[in-house]
Amino acid sequence: MGMYVFFWKNAVPVGEQFVTVCSNEDVSCHPTNLPYQDATRSTEERVVDLLGRMSLAEKIGQMALVEKDSLKHTNDIATYGLGAIMSGGGGKPTDNSPTGWQDMIQLFQTKSQMTRLQIPLLYGVDANHGHSNVPGATIFPHAIGLGATNNTELVKKIGIATAQEAEATGVNWIFSPNLDVTNDVRWGRTYETFGSNTETIAELGQAFIEGMNTVPTMLAGAKHFIGNGASEWGTSENKNFFIDQGNASVSEEELRYTHLAPFISAIDAGAKSIMIGLNQWNNEKIIFHTYLIQDVLKDELGFDGFVFSDWYGVYEGESNKSTALIRAINAGVDMVMLPYDYTQFSRIMHRAVQNGDISEARIDDAVTRILTVKFEKGLFDTTPTNVSDLDIVGSKKHKDLARIAVQQSLVLLKNNNVLPLSKKVRSLLIAGSSADNIGRQSGGWTVEWSGIDGNWIPGTTILEGIKNTVSPTTHIQYDLYGSFPKQTEKADVGIAIVGEMPYAEGWGDNAHPSLSEEDIETIEAVKAQSKKIVVIIVSGRPLDIAPYVDTWDAVVAVWLPGSEGIGIADVLFGDVPFTGKLPLEWKL
Ligand code: GLC
Repeated sequence: MGMYVFFWKNAVPVGEQFVTVCSNEDVSCHPTNLPYQDATRSTEERVVDLLGRMSLAEKIGQMALVEKDSLKHTNDIATYGLGAIMSGGGGKPTDNSPTGWQDMIQLFQTKSQMTRLQIPLLYGVDANHGHSNVPGATIFPHAIGLGATNNTELVKKIGIATAQEAEATGVNWIFSPNLDVTNDVRWGRTYETFGSNTETIAELGQAFIEGMNTVPTMLAGAKHFIGNGASEWGTSENKNFFIDQGNASVSEEELRYTHLAPFISAIDAGAKSIMIGLNQWNNEKIIFHTYLIQDVLKDELGFDGFVFSDWYGVYEGESNKSTALIRAINAGVDMVMLPYDYTQFSRIMHRAVQNGDISEARIDDAVTRILTVKFEKGLFDTTPTNVSDLDIVGSKKHKDLARIAVQQSLVLLKNNNVLPLSKKVRSLLIAGSSADNIGRQSGGWTVEWSGIDGNWIPGTTILEGIKNTVSPTTHIQYDLYGSFPKQTEKADVGIAIVGEMPYAEGWGDNAHPSLSEEDIETIEAVKAQSKKIVVIIVSGRPLDIAPYVDTWDAVVAVWLPGSEGIGIADVLFGDVPFTGKLPLEWKL
């Protein structure tokens, strides 16, 4: 029987050395008035002091980013001294309201304060188009639409607003911006990117980070380092997918020229955490790539924040979990995202250090980076937000900003002198799968990982926006499928609003992104009873409309506009001009 470490009145096997946890009665358990607790000292002084006081268990705990639904018990936050907790896509509290989020995260933070050294938690969410897990939050256009705006000032303001709404609910880490450079629109993550223009992506990513950094406690998590968008069709290591998490066979020159530049800009913007992708470069997984992570990102580019892994990615490259984890940490990964199992992570890490497979120096480097960011972000010196701040979530100011973003994201693909329409148009036929559906206009990463089809969140649909814009004399008929009674006289204009179902990541990989048969039939039904036909496409990427576009009078790409569908009517009826430009090629 091996030696036992006693804590909290229970013996534990040495292999799973837990962190000392303080009982409420034992006030001497928490040290006070120590250098690391003194906000007047330099960050470096505080980090050195704190690191010097930490046990191996406390250091390993800081390297764990645990998905909240994987917590066996919230007390594990204390007993393992966890450094960060997160919500994956759809990872919401039982009460999925701003208050529910604040209560959930406050509970987690309280648990972290039961440890001896009381190191605050990072709490991360994706928030890649607003604090989109939360009904009532402002849902901004997805990045592909922001790429069409190509407006850095606008994107900076969206970064500010997103950070403010997230911070109000207790979140202090957002796994955005996505800096992937889309190379193939068959990729299900196209809509999460700013498009395929490296320079635009670098500029907008920098603007988003600068915006987020205006909220002092908010940490941006730029992703996915590196070349995620260069994956080639048919190379995915995930057998459910075709291109997502795939391999990029490109030269180092191409990798640097096309895919590294956005991360250089992100570092210039003050990014202090960077997520490693689940992809491969020339058949080598990035997660194990010492040259790219340590030599290029950390040494050559001088990235002094911390590097963290994506989802289950650390374990996916090797059959043996211990080998995988050792390779990733030694390649330069500082924090490990842990859906499912953090106790195993703790055991493997302890053994790896005890066996010399991971050096104490590497552990100290990783923890130094993590603690430095936590001190720089003021986590040790700020108190959690109070309930009154929740008014910012879904505020009119932010919804007005989102409306402007929608306006500027629209791209006019075709116009035979039809648009803009008159608000006094006599009669309109409106139809289509995406006409009255906030879930479809929001796309994936909205309340649920793959989004929610239907009107389950606050906002205005495109149909509602049109109704609120035209004159009272305009006769509007709406039918989902365009099944209108025989019109005695053709309607002045038919508007068919069609596009994609919500999806996320590899589940959106599609060999031929195009309109459904149902959508085509709807467009034909509307066209048959209208003098002019306007087609509005709600999609995360270009769709193949070449076979039909010649028979349509106007076509508008609105991408995934989010909760403020009213912004589309603003442009359709001429209050705002079309200014959006294609963020990637759309073959017509
Ligand atoms: C996913 C995505 C990543 C996201 C993470 C947490 O696998 O690849 O972009 O931030 O998990 O939800």
